[in-house]
Amino acid sequence: MQKDPRVLTGSRTTGAPHLGNYFGAFKPAIDLQDKYELFLFLADFHALNERFTRQEMNSQSWEMIATLLACGLDPKRSLLYAQSLVPEVNELVWILACQAPYGMLLRAHSFKDAQAKGLEVNMGLFNYPILMAADILLYDANLVPVGKDQKQHLEMTSDFAQRFNNRYGEVLVIPEPLISDDVGLVPGIDGEKMSKSKGNHVPIFATDKVWEERVKSIVTDAKGLNDPKDPDSCNVFALYKLLATPEECAEVATKYRAGGYGYGHAKMALLAKLKEVFGPKREKFNELMKRPDDLRDIVTTGSRKARDVAVKKLSKIYDALGLIGADRLK
Ligand code: TRP
Repeated sequence: MQKDPRVLTGSRTTGAPHLGNYFGAFKPAIDLQDKYELFLFLADFHALNERFTRQEMNSQSWEMIATLLACGLDPKRSLLYAQSLVPEVNELVWILACQAPYGMLLRAHSFKDAQAKGLEVNMGLFNYPILMAADILLYDANLVPVGKDQKQHLEMTSDFAQRFNNRYGEVLVIPEPLISDDVGLVPGIDGEKMSKSKGNHVPIFATDKVWEERVKSIVTDAKGLNDPKDPDSCNVFALYKLLATPEECAEVATKYRAGGYGYGHAKMALLAKLKEVFGPKREKFNELMKRPDDLRDIVTTGSRKARDVAVKKLSKIYDALGLIGADRLK
């Protein structure tokens, strides 16, 4: 039986998960598994529109699985699966594509931004919003936690679903986005939004040495040790705030304002917090990466269950459309 509501979200397997991914996507989704039925998947088909080698594609997928598990995803309660292990999603992509207005897809940020930057624009990127809609609609998802940058994709998903339902009856569930406000607020070491493509990220499972280097390179203003400082405009403090308790934050903020507390001190405090919060997760991640068979079992089991749900839904969709394959799928 479906617990109401069903929460679903996906993560592209583009490598080296960082603090922005963790606080913007993994944590908000995983926190919901206590209350709701959670479907969490690797958007590996989505990752195909970037150019990765075979080796990168493969290792990034296993790393993502280990990352989600290390960050607390419980495969006994939640479904962890791979998009590519439920190939039915592509059938729904075609069905939705046949009703998706070309003009609407031309307005998608994902495609427009790449075009504006002169990056490769392939049909996979152009169709990105349709695949994302199929990801969601195939599983009757009610709530979809995503970052602000995905808002437009969610609006398109609702639009496609409405269009389908208007023509063929109430078949598709209209999903609600759950936009996490904090996502845009995870700054990278240069103060811009943290993103792997900008190279300003702090990876969540790096070695101590890499963490030290990244934290040392966080950009601050030029105030000296004794100057009073403003925690609210400091990148170091912005990251510290994500990791520490409100009491610890208040304490450090007082030190900033009092003077005699340098950015070097603040960076040490941040580094200690990184080790405290991510150290145990990193240990679990490393341990999981040594058990590829277990990882494979978990994702295969999750994908089989997801596929059962998908096939049933697809049968209803075929039926609504009048396609003669509906019975075969049942
Ligand atoms: N496009 C999302 C991102 O880049 C990942 C994603 C793919 C997704 N399919 C999804 C998120 C379905 C939520 C639901 O972050």
